[in-house]
Amino acid sequence: MCGIVGFTNRKIQAAPVLLEGLSRLEYRGYDSAGIAVRDQDKDTVVVRAKGRLKILEEKTNSGLSVPGTCGIGHTRWATHGEPSETNAHPHVTEDMNVVGVHNGIIENFSELKDKLEKNGYTFYSQTDTEVAVKLVDYYYKKYQGGPIDALAKTMVRVRGSYALAIMFKDYPGEIYVARKDSPMIVGLGEDEAYVASDVPAILKYTRTVYYVENLEMARLEPGKATFYDLNGDEVKKDTVQIEWDAESAEKGGFEHFMMKEIHEQPVAIRDTMNSVLTPDGHIDLSSTGLTEEQIRNFKNVTIVACGSAWHVGMASQYVFEDLVRMPVRVELASEFRYRNPILGEGDLVIIISQSGETADSLAALREAKDLGATTLGIVNVVGSSIAREADHVFYTLAGPEIAVATTKAYSAQLIAMDILAMEFAYLRGKMDEKKLLCMTAEMRTLPDKIQQLIEDKERIQWFASKFANAQDVFFIGRGLDYAICLEGSLKMKEISYIHSEAYAAGELKHGTISLIEDGILVIGVMTQNDLYEKTLSNMVEVKSRGAYLAGITNYGHYEIEDTVNFNVYIPKTDPHFSATLAVIPLQLTGYYLAVARGLDVDKPRNLAKSVTVE
Ligand code: AGP
Repeated sequence: MCGIVGFTNRKIQAAPVLLEGLSRLEYRGYDSAGIAVRDQDKDTVVVRAKGRLKILEEKTNSGLSVPGTCGIGHTRWATHGEPSETNAHPHVTEDMNVVGVHNGIIENFSELKDKLEKNGYTFYSQTDTEVAVKLVDYYYKKYQGGPIDALAKTMVRVRGSYALAIMFKDYPGEIYVARKDSPMIVGLGEDEAYVASDVPAILKYTRTVYYVENLEMARLEPGKATFYDLNGDEVKKDTVQIEWDAESAEKGGFEHFMMKEIHEQPVAIRDTMNSVLTPDGHIDLSSTGLTEEQIRNFKNVTIVACGSAWHVGMASQYVFEDLVRMPVRVELASEFRYRNPILGEGDLVIIISQSGETADSLAALREAKDLGATTLGIVNVVGSSIAREADHVFYTLAGPEIAVATTKAYSAQLIAMDILAMEFAYLRGKMDEKKLLCMTAEMRTLPDKIQQLIEDKERIQWFASKFANAQDVFFIGRGLDYAICLEGSLKMKEISYIHSEAYAAGELKHGTISLIEDGILVIGVMTQNDLYEKTLSNMVEVKSRGAYLAGITNYGHYEIEDTVNFNVYIPKTDPHFSATLAVIPLQLTGYYLAVARGLDVDKPRNLAKSVTVE
């Protein structure tokens, strides 16, 4: 996510305050930054820089070379357009009438850009933000209704999520704010006013804040904030006193980034699916560069990744082969690159990677390209090596993921792969339009279903705490459920350091069942109704050998309570989407085990967020 800071007052230089605030938002991850400062009614000065904040500080002599008492600042996490100085915020109109920064995603920015171009606007960047800024300018000039009216008209027209901080040439010393979905707070001092996308940015200056609600706007003047609704009517709001310390503020009040990111999953998958789902429920993959002809003609698919991304591949194999009826292989990148793979023209290789920098996955990409295969990256970091080198890229919009153990990026990758499978099936005549629209409609319900599962977290915490001293844990499942077990097992191992193993339920009796003894925890994942009875019988097998059983299955299978010691029901959904739901209790289980064992959840021993070495 991007970071926004704004500050206006009568005597303190704004730039150093903006830079300090942006430094408090660095934890959110970013690739470029910028500030816009205005000295009284002089022209606004804008300074931007690619890379770390330090570069912007050097360019502005720590803000001292940019005089003025009113300004806005931004750290950018790229979603539309490569990381670059040109794409960095703040963005401006040619006449500097409107200067603005934005956090969020404008889903219909292409159509808005066309509209503005038809009205004489030109564009210098690849960003959706520049479109938003120029749309505000367009309404401001067309209707002459002032800043709040222009913002209101913009909010009605824009689809997506946004937090905007805007300065208008005709209103020196003032900052205007608009919010939909992307969080934003306004802070007040004696004779100052602040705006920020997150508490840490202004905690040093004030603990008295307003939370900007959805579809609300605000006018900030020194020491004063006025709020308006979409009709332009003034809204009375109460201030809130922030009690958090700086560190817990960075985590949004959560104890760990991992828990914060588990909670961000509904937004992460909603943003990812909305980047390619059209309002009428179809799929538009044009942003990936893949053509319909290519999709119709691929002979097979090879998915290559590491770790949790490989688990996404394992899950997607079931979905792809079931829906598209085409051969799909899944390979560990560290194996793929040394096995002299049999690939060539007409083969599709999908590289899944959150960081886009994993050495083995990058090497596998290069190998696939050398062999003449078409390559597609499923990547979370815009402009990363895999994103740049793959023939095509489908960006997951999970935002920066700070915790080493992936959660929201994994979920966003799953959604991206499910969408690919659906579009492949549709274009290759394996799925009719009715079924496609039914599946995309069901996919849109997933964020709320995930939220429902997250709200059950206290039960999971109680269950996990019973096994804080476990030595070995087994996860068993069949089909897609087995792939979900792989991720549940890795989450547990990598953050709680408890040894665990994911096993195909039908394979247990071929040896591993000898390890089952009294008190061993076995977690069964049973979301695939056609395989439910078979896995349940495997659960009975291990129970008869003393195992403690936990079951994850769909609402409706209440008879499971006759067999397992603890169970979690997941909301009913299309069986192809079950991994997105069933993984939530598994993420929470691993998390609470690590917490119960007093471990460093966000930075587990021996691990790095991105494994850029072989
Ligand atoms: C998962 O929680 C781990 N952080 C790790 O397995 C990770 O998924 C793997 O290293 C791949 O990283 P990537 O997605 O950035 O390529």
